[in-house]
Amino acid sequence: MPLLGVIICSTRPGRAGPVFANWFADIAAAHGGFEVKIIDLAEVGLPLFDEGKLPQLQDYEHAHTRKWSQTISELDAVMFVTPEYNFGPPAPLVNALTYLVREWAYMPVGFLGYSLGVTAAARAIQTIRLTVNALRMMAIPESVLFPAYQQTLTETGELNAQPASEKAASVVLDELLRWTKALSGLRAKALKR
Ligand SMILES: Cc1cc2nc3c(=O)[nH]c(=O)nc-3n(C[C@H](O)[C@H](O)[C@H](O)COP(=O)(O)O)c2cc1C
Repeated sequence: MPLLGVIICSTRPGRAGPVFANWFADIAAAHGGFEVKIIDLAEVGLPLFDEGKLPQLQDYEHAHTRKWSQTISELDAVMFVTPEYNFGPPAPLVNALTYLVREWAYMPVGFLGYSLGVTAAARAIQTIRLTVNALRMMAIPESVLFPAYQQTLTETGELNAQPASEKAASVVLDELLRWTKALSGLRAKALKR
């Protein structure tokens, strides 16, 4: 079964990212098309990009880069769970993308965006689409969006998602799976699997 990485893209203490990542990972596991792995950029702990050589050479100096390369190479598809910071993608997401090139190639990617405001990180998602496209990732058009997310949290901080959100997640998963199958040959070649 293909492996889907659900990546938590915010790293600050008290962040909301894990609530949404856990919710999406549960839905993805029930979907049945993927094995699911949550990857938390706070735990990964990459410093600001510090490799001397171009990432496409894959001649990595640091153990943290080799480990990150291994983590991403193992994935067949990825879902970024992201907030919007100042109308753009959060720095940890941009930094994590910057470290690698070939490892991202021909990987289908979806987005879950959330915000306290009404934009649900849509501007961050549209902005980061340019970067994932440069990395030869296939960004699917549909996203799962949680605007004004405080209204969907219970008093104990759990997500009380509406059926429409579950439907959006299932559309994204179906589309990710379609592209995962279509791109598997190209991805295997890029990774020399
Ligand atoms: C540095 C920073 C910048 C933010 N900028 C935006 C923004 O541009 N648009 C928005 O809707 N919310 C913005 N917010 C509010 C976030 O939607 C909200 O704090 C959200 O919980 C951030 O995700 P996180 O908790 O996973 O860090 C910002 C929050 C922070 C901490």
